[in-house]
Amino acid sequence: MRMRILVLGGTWFLGRAVVAEGLRRGWEVTTFNRGLSGADVPGVRPVRGDRGRVADLRRLASEGPWDAVIDSSAADLDPAAVAAGAEALEPVAGRYVFVSSVNAYRGWPAEPLTESSELFAPAGTGYGPRKAAAERAVGDRFGTGRTAVLRPGVILGPGEYVGRLPWWLHRAHRGGPMLAPGSPGRTIQPVDVRDVAAFALRLAGAAGPVGGAYNVVAPIGRETMGGLLHDCVTVTGRRAEPRWVASEVLLAHGVRPWTELPLWRAIDGGWEVASDAAQAAGLMCRPLAETVMDTWAWLNGGGLPVDHPRRAQHGIDPAKEAAILASPGGAG
Ligand SMILES: NC(=O)c1ccc[n+]([C@@H]2O[C@H](COP(=O)([O-])OP(=O)(O)OC[C@H]3O[C@@H](n4cnc5c(N)ncnc54)[C@H](OP(=O)(O)O)[C@@H]3O)[C@@H](O)[C@H]2O)c1
Repeated sequence: MRMRILVLGGTWFLGRAVVAEGLRRGWEVTTFNRGLSGADVPGVRPVRGDRGRVADLRRLASEGPWDAVIDSSAADLDPAAVAAGAEALEPVAGRYVFVSSVNAYRGWPAEPLTESSELFAPAGTGYGPRKAAAERAVGDRFGTGRTAVLRPGVILGPGEYVGRLPWWLHRAHRGGPMLAPGSPGRTIQPVDVRDVAAFALRLAGAAGPVGGAYNVVAPIGRETMGGLLHDCVTVTGRRAEPRWVASEVLLAHGVRPWTELPLWRAIDGGWEVASDAAQAAGLMCRPLAETVMDTWAWLNGGGLPVDHPRRAQHGIDPAKEAAILASPGGAG
């Protein structure tokens, strides 16, 4: 059956991967965005508009119907705008696949998490509480049987404008002693953007009810920080030598976890997010090595579809890195 889907977003990273996979399957794909971030993927039916404006949402609804909506553009959106969108689209869409985040859990990143772990309360502010409130807003309009909520952890892969994996790849390519954070055995659970996209489309096109929430992360314990850096060093020509430095030493030097050394978390725990429900529903997570290789190929094949201020937050200054490596405890 030729599915008709509406992708909210659709011009960069996750939304773009969803669109590409939908078109590859021969589906009819409508996209909705303001036309500010990147170009349309050839083959889509683009509708321009702002999710924050009710008139635009009504105009969008008049372009329906669709079998499913895939909402990949709500990173910074007010939950009230998500609610207004769900309200407008409910009569013209069979189901709603909402891309939330593990940040919706109150216990992220310190605690082990399953889909039944506690979410943030609706009244909170910030990214996690907004995501939790937006999930509820969609569920209230579409009902549990027609709402699927995806909660990805960190998403990597070709097209990543945030600059996490691109930073590590460029750093490894620069070569020399390379500050490696924490310990090589520390587990991480990044998921490839193409695997999130395929899973979203699987839920969009499923024959039966799709209700429920799904943690969308790599299996617990499969990937490690050591594996990530090893893969980055390998694909960039073996120029860099990781030097592992304990988290306490990095914190003493004022290194910002997560951004200055991407994917490094200084706290105990974390990266224990169960993804059994998603795997049972068909999530396939490719090995991180493949994500690293394809992202390097993408960077060398033309780079970023759109520049973004978040990229500037990532990476450590080379002089600071060298000073830490040369310091006592710096493994240099
Ligand atoms: N990156 C990660 O590691 C990660 C992890 C977990 C969850 N997520 C979630 O994954 C989803 C996708 O993230 P992303 O980084 O790929 O995309 P994003 O930054 O959330 O969305 C970008 C897309 O949405 C459109 N858009 C933004 N504001 C809009 C508005 N007011 N009205 C209409 N369209 C609008 C943009 O086009 P225009 O600017 O042209 O309108 C663009 O196509 C988000 O919900 C995010 O929270 C991401």
